[in-house]
Formats: sequence, C-alpha cells, structure tokens
Amino acid sequence: MKINKNNAKKRILFLRDEIEKHNELYYVNNKPLISDFEFDILLEELQFLESKYPEYYSENSPTLKIGSDLSSNKVKNEPKEPSRVFVQVAHKHPMLSLSNTYNKEDLYSFNERVAKITESNFSYVCELKIDGSAISLSYENNKLVRAITRGDGTEGDDVTQNVKNIEGIPHEIYNNQGPCNFEIRGEIYMPWSSFDKLNKVKKENEEALFANPRNAAAGSLKLLNAKETAKRGLRAFFYSVVSDQISFKNHMESLLWAKENGFPVPEYSKVCNNLEEVFNFIDHWDIERKNLSFPTDGIVIKLNSMELQQKAGFTSKYPRWATAYKFRAEQAVTTLISVDYQVGRTGAITPVANLYPVLLSGSSIKRASLHNQDQMDLIDVHIGDRVFIEKGGEIIPKIVGVDISKRDKNAIKPHFPEFCPDCGTKLEREVEQAKHYCPNYNGCPMQIKGRFLHFCSRKAMNILIGEATVEQMFNLGYLKHLSDIYNISREELLRMEGWKEKSADRFILSLEKSKSAPFYRVLYALGIRFVGEATAKSLANHFKSIDSIIKATKEELLEVDDIGDSVAESVLSFFSIEANITSIDELKKKGITLEAQEIENSSISASLEGKSIVVSGLFSIPRDELKKIIEQHSGKNVNSLSSKTSYLVAGQKMGPAKLDKAKQLGIKILTEGDFFKLIK
Ligand code: IVH
Repeated sequence: MKINKNNAKKRILFLRDEIEKHNELYYVNNKPLISDFEFDILLEELQFLESKYPEYYSENSPTLKIGSDLSSNKVKNEPKEPSRVFVQVAHKHPMLSLSNTYNKEDLYSFNERVAKITESNFSYVCELKIDGSAISLSYENNKLVRAITRGDGTEGDDVTQNVKNIEGIPHEIYNNQGPCNFEIRGEIYMPWSSFDKLNKVKKENEEALFANPRNAAAGSLKLLNAKETAKRGLRAFFYSVVSDQISFKNHMESLLWAKENGFPVPEYSKVCNNLEEVFNFIDHWDIERKNLSFPTDGIVIKLNSMELQQKAGFTSKYPRWATAYKFRAEQAVTTLISVDYQVGRTGAITPVANLYPVLLSGSSIKRASLHNQDQMDLIDVHIGDRVFIEKGGEIIPKIVGVDISKRDKNAIKPHFPEFCPDCGTKLEREVEQAKHYCPNYNGCPMQIKGRFLHFCSRKAMNILIGEATVEQMFNLGYLKHLSDIYNISREELLRMEGWKEKSADRFILSLEKSKSAPFYRVLYALGIRFVGEATAKSLANHFKSIDSIIKATKEELLEVDDIGDSVAESVLSFFSIEANITSIDELKKKGITLEAQEIENSSISASLEGKSIVVSGLFSIPRDELKKIIEQHSGKNVNSLSSKTSYLVAGQKMGPAKLDKAKQLGIKILTEGDFFKLIK
C-alpha cells in the first residue's frame, strides 16, 4: 500500500496512541510489552510521517515529549498495597533524555553536527549507559534534601525516603570547597545478582516476574515502604552535576569531583579524541558488557568540554552535545514471503511469517511469529517487506519491525482471516483478548490433534507419541475424546504405518504408566485454556478432585491463590462442554488419577490438633502449600479471624487491618519461621 495523505493521517493517529500506551506500560507500569528496539522503530516511523506530513503536527505528539514515569497512584507489578501517592515536585532545570541510535553511521552525522557547532577541536567522554531509572538528587549545604524521579522531565515524583535507603548514596558530603548547594543526576539500577534474587523470590511466591532489571529498579524505587526498597539491593551511579556554585572545565572533571565526594560514578568512562576511538570503545563494550555485574543498554557519547556543551545547547527533548548508541539483540533482516495462520489446541490463531531463509545466531531462520492481529497492525507489516527478526525467549523468532523505507509501492497488507484456515468456522475474538479463536471446539481437526499432543506431552501424561502418529491415528478415526487413546489395541498399532512390535510395546507401557500420573498433571493434560502447570497444581491442591472442580462456582474458583477472572471463566467454560464431561467420565473408567492422592492429604503429625489457623500474606512457599501442611499436621484452616482462631500465620505484605484485628482479639501471631518451629 502506498502511503497517501489519508492513510498517513490514520497511521499517525494510530502510532501516537500506541506509543503513548507503550510509554505508560514502560515508565509507569514497569511492564513493557515490546522491546526498546520495537518501540524505537514505531517512534521513528511516526517521526518520518510527521516530517512528511507537517499538516498533522501536534504539540502533544510523543515525538515531542519524553516518556513520563509520574505515578498515578499504583504500581501495577507489585502486590496490591494501600493507595500510594508520591508528591510531585518541579525540577529546577528540565530533566531531558538522550537522542539515540542503533547505527554507527548515525554517529558520523552526530560528529559532523558537533564539529559544525563547536568550530574547534573537541574530545568526547564515552560512558556506559546503565539501564535503570533516572534520578535527580538535591543537596543543600552539602546535605541530601530531595530525590526526584525524571517524571515527565518538568516534574517528577519525590522518592527521597526510598532513595535514602539505597546503599552508596551519600546523605551528606564533605566538600573541601565548603558547604554548597547542588543537584546531581544519575541512574538508580539493579545489579544482576539482586535482580535474579528478586525474581527467584517472586517465582517461589508465584507472582509475576519483572521483565528486566530496569523495570525492577523503577518498580522498587517507587515502593510505598522505604524499608522494602532497601531490601531490593538497588545501587546508583551519577553522571551530571548541576550547580551555580561549582563549575567544571570538562565533564571528566565533574565525574572526578563527584567521585571524590563519595558518589558512585560510571565506571570505565573514557576520553575519546575522535570517532575511531569512540567506535573502539563501543565494540569493546558490546562484547564485554555480558561480563558486567549490572545491566547496560548502550554507550553514551558526550562532549567533554563544558564550554562547548553550553555552546551546543539543547533541542526541546535532548542535549545537542550528547547522544546514545544503543546495543541491540542479535538481529537479522530478511524478506517476508507470506503469512500462514496456525490453529493451536485451544483454537487460538497465530499468524506465522514465511521468510527468505536467513542466518541468525548460528541457525537458519525460515519462519517467525507475528503473534496476533494487533501486533501485525502495530508494525504495519506488508508482504515483500524487509523485516527485522530477533530471537526472544521463545523458540520461534519474532518479527520486531519493518523497514518501511524499502517497501515496494504495490506491497499488499496480509489479510487476517475471518474463517478458521483448518475447518472454515467463523473466527471469534473476545473483548480484551489479543487473539482470534476458532470456536469449533469439537470438530476442528487442528484443535483435536493439538489437544491430543498436549495430553500426551512430557509434563502432562508423558505418553510416547509424536505429531505424525497423532495425525495418523486421527485420520484413521481413532481419536475423538481424550480417553480414546487408551482404547487403541496392539493389533491396531501394528497395522499402522511404521509401527513394529517394539514401538507398540513401548507405547502401551507408557499408556499404562500414565495412569498413575498425579492428579495435577491430569488436570494440566486436559488442556484447559490458561491452566498451565502451576495453576493446575493450585486447583488440584485446593479442590482435591475433578468432581469438586466441576461443581465449583466462579466465586469458589476465585478463592484459589493466583486464579483470576479469566482463568475462572475458562475453567467454567471447559466444564460446561458436554464432550469434556464425557471425556472425563471415560478417563475415570480407564483408571486415570482424577483425585489428589492420599499421600497429599495424609496426616504427618497431630501437632496442630484442635487449632484453627488463618494464613495471610506472602510466604516463601505458595499459600496453598502452607495450608496443606497445616492439614497434614491435623490443624484446621479457616478464612477469617474470630475469637475462636488459635493462630494467625502472618506472611509478608499482609494487610495492617488483619494484623490489628488479630491483636485486638488476642490471637497469637506467628511468622513463617515460628510456624515451622511449632510443627517441628
Ligand atoms: S547523560 C540530558 N549518561 O539514559 C540527559 N544518561 O536514554 C543526559 N543514562 O535519561 C543523560 N546512563 O536516564 C547519561 N552514562 C549516562 C547514562 C544515562 C544511563 C540514562 C539517563 C537518560 C537515559 C536516556
């Protein structure tokens, strides 16, 4: 599609909305959905369109503003806390961002611009760009009085108490030039070791993990409880001193002053006298950064002379005397040939790109995920486009962006299908769901085959069977209900293509073994949408049998730890399908474990006999597991506090109201440690 005035306007408005949304997800919620690189591509496209169509100028465009971390009153990636508000304080001098590039060629133009402005010899300082959250500290008479986040650049959140709890930040400095007032700016970051530790605890508590140390640092900086911030292992480094009372000849001198006065400054900063030295610094750190104890996302290149910095000045968003070269994940560029639409076992439709093969991190890539229609619209992909691919955490690489400057003017936009590519049923898309689904649950061959493959997979029933066999069995009409797999006889197997006595025996043995798989694995094997292994475990622990889960109401399902609205809805919808109930009845007849086994419930001791116990808050093990232990020691779990409650086992982040009530009622409060001592 050729860009004309009409669709350019549509795209500009769309991009502005999307960029605002991703800015908020990144800066406020600390939960980015796309990588920095994907974000930068969107911003670049918007900049390109705005410069081509200046009639659509808007002073509110995200191309003219820097992202804002100003908090509303919640930080969404943290457990729910009482309402949290940070006082917003204006910056004395605006806190700007840095222009950035992923291409070395752009540094030539930067260098030329600098040369033109300065009209003299100059040197740069190259510094590591640490991936954290920007901060500005104000010192009055050498004492730390305020710490403000960058916010929207004009005003930021006052996080003084939290910052005072970060190791290495001087509360007062000894300045041999006497007391003075100054501002010092830098980055609060989370070293890899603290990040790994934090996510490990989050994983154990079955909480959402932080996507990267930057989000973890930003989230931790804005915790309501400063003592909690202190526990997060945050660190800081400072790269800029602003003061009317102290002046420096060059940037390097200011870093030295900061260092002498006890501030941590960027390690490994280097004066570079020309671009070649800058490139050497970049190349060195692009490799060496993998060995650093903290996260870096690029190199900042700054004019060293303060006088020349002043001469260069600022645009509305950036200093003209500095820029950032950003490291990118290993990428490849290739051409998009076509898009296939795959039907998953839950009926979800995933667009998959067919590409001209290209080498990426040592393997030849021919296919890449486009995730869903929203993602396709977001990057505005067209057939024949030159596309950027990256290997993310998933096995299949993904398309992260499109080079629109190379787009053929006749390029066609792929059309997301209205009907299931496998069975032809009209696709559906639920409100707030990114994916389209084929609703033909009982008849769509791809869904049925996908369900069998999932049922037999290693973490589910662990039945030795592959894709080709499932295809064959399905085509022979052997597979309809999940239990059908247990009806296949040895004779039938031996009649199938490629099957010999040995493989048939191995398959039958794995079928027999699967009958003793624990209940939670069977529950996971059923393939209920959104019920992964961990959720299956929680459901099994809570309800103990398939019959109780089938009977459970939405409210009862929501009582289970880590089960929210969409999982509860999905469980209800699964058991409302007649064919699934028939399947379960048949599985029962085959002797599959559909109840939590005795050992899980059996009594270990009578140490809590006659005791009613309330557990509340977060523990080092999932709450349901703690409740199970109470039962195993003959205690009784109760949900609310009353005068009959014997103990309150209080975990972290427990609501203060519950604690107060327990105190009022004179209930003994146990920490997790006290509890384990008691049952020992
Ligand atoms: S200098 C006028 N130096 O990167 C802005 N920034 O993407 C001067 N950052 O807002 C910033 N390491 O939060 C500078 N060595 C470094 C940095 C650095 C990380 C952050 C900073 C900035 C952002 C821009």
